[in-house]
Amino acid sequence: MSSTSGTFEISSLGAFFIFGLLWIVAIGVFPLLALMHASPDQKPKGCRRLGLAPGQSNLTDEYDSKYNDGVPGDQKEENGLPSWRVKALFTYPLKSCGGIELQTSDVVGTGLKFDRQFAFAEETGDGWNCRTLRNAGFQRMALIHTEIWVPDPSSPEYDDRRPEMQSDGVMIISYPRVAPSCPLGIVIKIAMAIRLLESRRSFQVPLVPAKNSKYPVVPVRIWKDKPLAYDYGSLIPPSLHAYLGFDHSKSTLSLFRAHPSHNREIFRNAPGKEQIGFQPNTAFADAYPIHLLNITSHRDVAGRCAEAIPRLSIRRFRANIIVQGPEAFAEDQWKRMMIGETEIYAACRTVRCRLPNVDPDTGDRHKAEPDRTLKSYRRVDLGDPTNACLGLQLVPAVEECSLAVGDEVRVLETGEHRYIKMLAPGEKVEGV
Ligand SMILES: *[C@@H]1O[C@H](CO)[C@@H](O)[C@H](O)[C@H]1NC(C)=O
Ligand SMILES: *[C@@H]1O[C@H](CO)[C@@H](O)[C@H](O)[C@H]1NC(C)=O
Repeated sequence: MSSTSGTFEISSLGAFFIFGLLWIVAIGVFPLLALMHASPDQKPKGCRRLGLAPGQSNLTDEYDSKYNDGVPGDQKEENGLPSWRVKALFTYPLKSCGGIELQTSDVVGTGLKFDRQFAFAEETGDGWNCRTLRNAGFQRMALIHTEIWVPDPSSPEYDDRRPEMQSDGVMIISYPRVAPSCPLGIVIKIAMAIRLLESRRSFQVPLVPAKNSKYPVVPVRIWKDKPLAYDYGSLIPPSLHAYLGFDHSKSTLSLFRAHPSHNREIFRNAPGKEQIGFQPNTAFADAYPIHLLNITSHRDVAGRCAEAIPRLSIRRFRANIIVQGPEAFAEDQWKRMMIGETEIYAACRTVRCRLPNVDPDTGDRHKAEPDRTLKSYRRVDLGDPTNACLGLQLVPAVEECSLAVGDEVRVLETGEHRYIKMLAPGEKVEGV
């Protein structure tokens, strides 16, 4: 008897406890989350967002079979657009993170405006080293997205004294919210599922440090260069470190903004000052200011690894300009072209690493593809016979211009390309 009533007492106590907990959740935590959700929206004042509206893209038909083959140039289509043209434009302000799709873009000395002006770097005892999707453990960067907001004088909230104007605009960085592994974590997950809580978190950084700001300026290693950059580390919220799974006891992670007067001048395959009147330069791009990809070439690669990855998006290759029209790999021989009104040099082919193995929509890294497929048939450049090539590295013949989706692509000159590798100090290349 006594044991039965004891059990009853414990279970009623348990039920009481569970109900109590539910009440706390109901009257305490959910309204708190609702409050967090209702926190002032992130829209920077006096600014407009750059790029296509959310959900819009010029690549929605990228898997259409009509891109499997090239079409003759110098023709107009029914819509009045030239058959060889710019299909889509992207700028990637934060290296290795999600890009921003554009309808038109200003082009400046370093490439498409805002492209690769920001990068994450890790301090591992020998200074700051740039980190990308290539680095083990960093594939989560794929799900970090950026928005660029630029001052908009037509906005009623525009005011020179606002911090947003003083910094020439802001970049919003967003990333998935991580629920902690404790009971509150479950509540947070439920709240995200029923949309009471945003599933992404965000913060903003100045596009350019305001005049009175005091961000440290330090060297950041990218390949063999060490350009100076502003250290924005103080702006990174702990939740971003948590999302990246970063362990501070081993090293430090920070966010850098390229210093506009310390861009990396580029030589190697780029046309030089004697040819175009200025030395091309980049911020945190790997090698050259602009990267072009022909959608038909990409279809060819995608077709060959369709078994491993049925829908291989062209966005994996992180090109700035995606062109349609030419047959696959025609661009391999392009030396000089017009895109719209702008004359552009092809410095060299884009030599590929394993970065496109990371899916930009999930952050998952495929263990082999498309790297294996590319290596199987695209080791086409005599200058680098061990690596595959896809796409072209471009240098505009002018320091400032603009590009737009729909711009006609005309090839002015074709010829041989021979990739020149990044050299160590004192190292020489045979035969060039
Ligand atoms: C590109 O996409 C935008 C937004 O959906 C659309 O307005 C525009 O017409 C598209 N451009 C072309 C050339 O298809
Ligand atoms: C695109 O690639 C196809 C296939 O390699 C090629 O025939 C075509 O000329 C290329 N077009 C452009 C604009 O690169």
